[in-house]
Amino acid sequence: QRLVGRELSEYRLIVVSNRQPYAFRMENGNLVGEMPPGGLTAAIDPLMRACGGTWIAQSNGDSDHLAMDADGRIAVPLDSPAYRLRLMDLTEAENDGYYYGFSNQGLWPLCHVAYTEPIFDTQDYEAYKSVNRKFANLVVDEIGDGPAIVLIQDYHLALLPRYIRQVCEDVIIGQFWHIPWPNTDILRICPWQEEILDGMLGHDLLGFHLSSDCDKFLDAVARNLNAQVDSQFGLVDYQDEMTLVRPFPISIDFDSLDAEARTAEVESEMARLSQEFGLDTGRILGLGIDRQDYTKGIPHRLRAVERFLEKWPEYQGKLVFLQAGATSRTNINSYMQLTIDIESIVNRINERFGDGDWQPIAYWPTSFPSATFSALRRLASFCAESSLHDGMNLVAKEYVASRVDEDGVLILSAFAGAAQELSSSIIINPYASEQFADAIHQALTMSDDERRLRMRHMRSIVQQNNIYNWAGRIMMNLMQASTPDHARLPA
Ligand code: G6P
Repeated sequence: QRLVGRELSEYRLIVVSNRQPYAFRMENGNLVGEMPPGGLTAAIDPLMRACGGTWIAQSNGDSDHLAMDADGRIAVPLDSPAYRLRLMDLTEAENDGYYYGFSNQGLWPLCHVAYTEPIFDTQDYEAYKSVNRKFANLVVDEIGDGPAIVLIQDYHLALLPRYIRQVCEDVIIGQFWHIPWPNTDILRICPWQEEILDGMLGHDLLGFHLSSDCDKFLDAVARNLNAQVDSQFGLVDYQDEMTLVRPFPISIDFDSLDAEARTAEVESEMARLSQEFGLDTGRILGLGIDRQDYTKGIPHRLRAVERFLEKWPEYQGKLVFLQAGATSRTNINSYMQLTIDIESIVNRINERFGDGDWQPIAYWPTSFPSATFSALRRLASFCAESSLHDGMNLVAKEYVASRVDEDGVLILSAFAGAAQELSSSIIINPYASEQFADAIHQALTMSDDERRLRMRHMRSIVQQNNIYNWAGRIMMNLMQASTPDHARLPA
């Protein structure tokens, strides 16, 4: 009932996430803000640019040289300020327990079926709780006495809604969970599952990518808490509070990626890269872009390229597969091991097939300016996204948005949320190397007409369900969730 008698525009918008949307650094004496890898910031930044408000996040420790207001808010983006960023410092011990520990060695592997065992350590969980409380204090301070809408992002902050709700009545709270939700039998591995569920029911609205994630969440609530669950409406009645649970498949800013792909800067990057990969002399580029994470199926993808070269030797000397994207969470053993594994597979394939100036695999484990990624997407005959499990996979949507020529083939894992919308890609099982290798062959031998038809279809889907459409639907549902009749309104 929090919206009754008020207009949406009277509410202050506060977004909270662990990761800050820009990493700041000095370049030729100037401060620049660069977006970190990962889908969350890429998706939420355009929304904040359009709506304004405050984004609260953990500090990278790189904001010392930035101009701030009295409460430490920074106007961003630096070159055309549209919203404010409020950063929170964590101690190393807090970050180790909350971010590297419970969030990324506990919840992350718990929520993804990638066969990495979750680690649940009591001290990590204590740090997780205390950091969520710390975020709550800052959010409450930011709310002040005005009515506010708080949009929490992701699994780092599952307890935050409950902590805010304990202090503030006049606030509408929603969360978007950017990763999959586990089935109820797997959730049981987490010793604090009930507390996590209780925390998340501090929300008016809870969003997941897929309706299957919503169903699994509702099942967990029904089995673990004393709550009334209406699975048909996606509604939970718990301790006299209602939470709406709805799917919102996240997306990208299609128009801006489409426009970027047409710029002179991207054209000139294309000319440079084309020469670098020998595309001007008839070579073909295949592409994989990922934040380096064991859920992305990078070794599986490289093995499929290897099998492809073995099966169709006429592509030896011709196909270059580029695996690009920054390393991630490098303090965690499973991530260090992944880097070692990828390097050894790349070396093996290059030693096995490489000849003269041709190496089949190019490996660029760093980040690049967005114009470079855009040029690579435009040049690649196919893009392979082979997640073992993924909430959405925005790289797949970015590839489609950059293909202004309506060419190129997307090979996409059936286990990425994006596969539900992008059914005109070639859908693969990343564990099945033979099928994956065949998919590469199918991509490279597909007729011009079929390529165009598939790409046109995917582009129209992403253009329609873009990030603004996603945000609009979340806002509409938040309004429904905070009015008395919300259960009767359609999703
Ligand atoms: C995924 C998560 C985000 C996270 C991003 C990058 O997309 O859902 O919450 O920000 O990965 O990971 P990092 O740990 O570097 O923030």
